[in-house]
Amino acid sequence: MAKQRILTGIRPTGALHLGHYVGALKQWLELQDEYECFFLIADAQALTDHADDVAGIRKAVFEVVLDWLAVELDPRKGAFAIQSMLPETFELTHYLASVTPQSLVDRNPTLKDEVKQLKEQRGVTVTHAFMGYPVSQAADILLPRANLVPVGEDQVPHIELTREIARRFNRIYGKVFPLPRAKVGVIGRLVGTDGKDKMSKSLGNVIMLSDPSKVVEKKVMAMYTDPKRVRADVPGTVEGNPVFIYHNAFNTDKAEVRDLEERYRKGKVGDVEVKEKLTRALNAFLDPIRERRAYFETRHQLVIDALVRGTERERKIGEETIRQVRKAMGIHYF
Ligand code: TRP
Repeated sequence: MAKQRILTGIRPTGALHLGHYVGALKQWLELQDEYECFFLIADAQALTDHADDVAGIRKAVFEVVLDWLAVELDPRKGAFAIQSMLPETFELTHYLASVTPQSLVDRNPTLKDEVKQLKEQRGVTVTHAFMGYPVSQAADILLPRANLVPVGEDQVPHIELTREIARRFNRIYGKVFPLPRAKVGVIGRLVGTDGKDKMSKSLGNVIMLSDPSKVVEKKVMAMYTDPKRVRADVPGTVEGNPVFIYHNAFNTDKAEVRDLEERYRKGKVGDVEVKEKLTRALNAFLDPIRERRAYFETRHQLVIDALVRGTERERKIGEETIRQVRKAMGIHYF
């Protein structure tokens, strides 16, 4: 039986951090063997609110690919594709937009939130392309006729919109698209080093996959813990405590974690010891990632090769999709 197909993507806005790993990459790594995967770098989507910084997007594209390779996402298994190099996406976007009621896009909660943020926090003009990006994202997903889309919670409205658009297209023109399903990860999101509910570069509470060990140590030693625990001999709270959330996510020595948790609850261990052990665990996790990243940083051609091959692979399928779409719609003239 043919493998089910996956498409997932990311906006290239910078290098990736532990939150990306827990929320996305960890899941992708598990899926790359079982599914035919397409990993999309959505540079054209990034353009919709960063048109004044193409150089930044370009730089971020390579940061993202380096991080992907560093965590061992394998370009021989899944295809690494660049959205702007798949012109079929933009053709498909137009056909899909033509069967999409504006009201469906207007009520998309993720788009609404982002528009608010753009206006209030960045004070930038909201572009026409930005208002339409969920439809373009539907084209990202439908171009390879994906069955499954692993994403974070915030992207679920986009997958629902994609299903609705595919349903409408199929109803009007005949069945071309499978209805893709969202696959939301179990852990989902990682708290920031400051205890805020999301690790995010704009909040300045991130540990990057590419941070050197000294930087990791500094960030961990400054981490937010139980604020009510003024001294090491006072019982502390483990639940919801960022240092223990990270221990549980990254420390492979489970016995050590249980022991630290037990002593923390009894007021028999200081924050410093907990943090030193966390630093060690995180650096043990990040060392091989940093090593592989350094390897690919000095071998740019390997990075380019991965992108060329992956983009070509997706284009072949995308071209076939467009053939089917035009045929179904009856818009082939000669
Ligand atoms: N919107 C996604 C994000 O903010 C990126 C993305 C673009 C995407 N195209 C996609 C995600 C297709 C899943 C499927 O990161």
